[in-house]
Amino acid sequence: MVTMRTDRLVLKQVQKFFYRKKIQQKPFPQSLFPFLQTEKETIKAVDDISFEVQLGQIYGVLGANGSGKSTLIRLISTLLLPDSGQITIFGYDVVKNSYQVRKMMNRVSVDAAFFKRLSALENLIYTARLYDIPVKTATTKATEILERLGFKADRMDGGMEDLSRGMQQKVAIARAFLTAPILLLLDEPTTGLDPKSKRDVQAFINEIRQEHEAAIILTTHDMAEAETLCDQIAIIDQGKFIARGTAGQLKSQINKPESTLEEVFIELTGKDLQEE
Ligand SMILES: Nc1ncnc2c1ncn2[C@@H]1O[C@H](COP(=O)(O)OP(=O)(O)OP(=O)(O)O)[C@@H](O)[C@H]1O
Ligand SMILES: [Mg+2]
Repeated sequence: MVTMRTDRLVLKQVQKFFYRKKIQQKPFPQSLFPFLQTEKETIKAVDDISFEVQLGQIYGVLGANGSGKSTLIRLISTLLLPDSGQITIFGYDVVKNSYQVRKMMNRVSVDAAFFKRLSALENLIYTARLYDIPVKTATTKATEILERLGFKADRMDGGMEDLSRGMQQKVAIARAFLTAPILLLLDEPTTGLDPKSKRDVQAFINEIRQEHEAAIILTTHDMAEAETLCDQIAIIDQGKFIARGTAGQLKSQINKPESTLEEVFIELTGKDLQEE
């Protein structure tokens, strides 16, 4: 059993930069010596971000491609180390107490890895076994979650490699919820799903929060999703939170009370998410 020291996740001035070699086509004779072209560019993937999420809350991070959403999630999940700043999860530091932190959370991302030859159910039972959940309990629970996600029962026993990307995404979501973690990191859980599947997943996330107390961070490109699911929304652009609040507060920030969250986003970032 995990013990919490506080009821929240806290990020303080977290920063993560990447350094990339600039690729430049230099004229001859410099082109013969590419190793001399050492000009580097700095990518400020996460740039001075601070926020808190309490148990029971869904915190939404809304941003365009490349804005820093996944980097932020990877920092919280201990997959990346911050350059500076501090992240504590229910009182545990992600760097100093990474072992305790990992036990408290699960992450869903589009790059989820599975045993491709095993079925959806077998993959879920495998994960459950790592958490000491008995096979029988795991089978019942995995089947129930997959059904709630609108995953057809007759596809549960076929190999993962034969499932569509959307169906694999549902298995990834089921896997994250199998162990009832108290911190859930959902990195674009509905991107690439068809409208019906999207609704299934959103309904499931909503039901889970009623049933089981957890802190949830959800990243998305989808304004409507952020608006229906999230208690708080932060808009991220080039690694910075440029606005935050409830959907209502964000709309009132641009002095157009009738505007949609989409218009707020365009106004604040100068970008149109639909174009991505
Ligand atoms: N390991 C890495 N090395 C170098 N640059 C990286 C690395 N990971 C991310 N980046 C860069 O950091 C920036 C933020 O990337 P990130 O993946 O966090 O964005 P994102 O908001 O998740 O985008 P998307 O919506 O496409 O998933 C991008 O410019 C990306 O190219
Ligand atoms: Mg991403």
